[in-house]
Amino acid sequence: MPFLSDTLSRVKPSPTIAVSNLAAELKAQGKDVIGLGAGEPDFDTPQNIKDAGIAAIVAGKTKYTAVDGIPELKAAICAKFKRDNGLDYTPAQVSVGTGGKQILYNALMATLNPGDEVVIPAPYWVSYPDMVLLAGGTPVFAETSSQTNYKLTPDQLEAAITPKTKWFIFDSPSNPTGAGYTWDELKALTDVLMRHPHVWVMTDDMYEHLVYDDFKFCTPAEVEPRLYDRTLTCNGVSKAYAMTGWRIGYAAGPEEIIKAMRKVQSQSTSNPCSVSQWAAVEALNGPQDYIATNNATFKRRRDLVVAMLNEADGITCLVPEGAFYVYPSINGCIGKTTPAGTHIDTDETFAKALLEEQGVAVVFGGAFGLSPAFRISYATSDANLTKACARIQTFCAGLK
Ligand SMILES: Cc1ncc(COP(=O)(O)O)c(C=O)c1O
Repeated sequence: MPFLSDTLSRVKPSPTIAVSNLAAELKAQGKDVIGLGAGEPDFDTPQNIKDAGIAAIVAGKTKYTAVDGIPELKAAICAKFKRDNGLDYTPAQVSVGTGGKQILYNALMATLNPGDEVVIPAPYWVSYPDMVLLAGGTPVFAETSSQTNYKLTPDQLEAAITPKTKWFIFDSPSNPTGAGYTWDELKALTDVLMRHPHVWVMTDDMYEHLVYDDFKFCTPAEVEPRLYDRTLTCNGVSKAYAMTGWRIGYAAGPEEIIKAMRKVQSQSTSNPCSVSQWAAVEALNGPQDYIATNNATFKRRRDLVVAMLNEADGITCLVPEGAFYVYPSINGCIGKTTPAGTHIDTDETFAKALLEEQGVAVVFGGAFGLSPAFRISYATSDANLTKACARIQTFCAGLK
């Protein structure tokens, strides 16, 4: 009898975490490596949020809390949904978990039966397919293309839906492409969903606040109110408030699924960290002005990276609407050979050779389900980005 479960054998470890670990390992060995793999802001958590966490510790708010969140945080989340998205939720419709990741995982664990399908646009955030597999479901990929800036078209969504589809996972702005759907683009997708009443929407709005130029964020239940009863609107404080280590994510939706998610959480981790919950109350209720300040920095970095990558031979990079990622295509590099003699046959060999020969760590596109490409996280200093992109240019210029 095998010791490890069959389910586990269907799942792979997170490739983005693997790249970050490898870059850190090489740095620790004294190698000159620039890591562009990590999906987290390089900004510090704002002081008012840290102070709220410290105050919670001092006040002894260090015990178990209600499994899916303290009432104060649920109230702050309801106020946020009303303020930012025009959505009315009651605290009973809100679930708080240990990061956005646990929220999505709870929802899939609570709803998927063997054979249930989950439509995931590709390229996708690396965890969606594996979470679906862990929960016993079947991921169904709907492949996008650079022609539509990696945004799913209504026809592609329609083609991916079957009688077995339980969820459609929607992610805008997207990790890994940064693509954000306009109101009209999203409405075209919700129109498709209106024709398939058995399909629920899991919208991952993690990058809601990280949008640039004049892009206006929107979310499915806001664009199509008739979908409210079958939408789970997921979000969190990790990215917009530079709180990745605090581990607070949340979702709102019909009470039935919120209750089911609570049941999963009650038998796995119980409540998210009490101190982090109080810090998240401050994040959501406190001043929001640093988001715009951080975004000005992110936009400058995005423009820098896109411009420099487009100057590299064989690379084409679109300008994304949000998040802190770009997803350049390396179509023009495939089939070539590096100065050290590596034949570039896939984006994985490209990323490996780039790390070995130029000391730049990026995540290969295959990890996100659409090749040949790679993902850069530009949540690092301008100096690092300039140096890394110059090395990518040198690497590409050396391909024969
Ligand atoms: C699209 C997306 N959703 C969810 C998460 C998870 O966020 P958290 O760190 O709050 O678990 C991430 C983090 O990388 C993400 O990129």
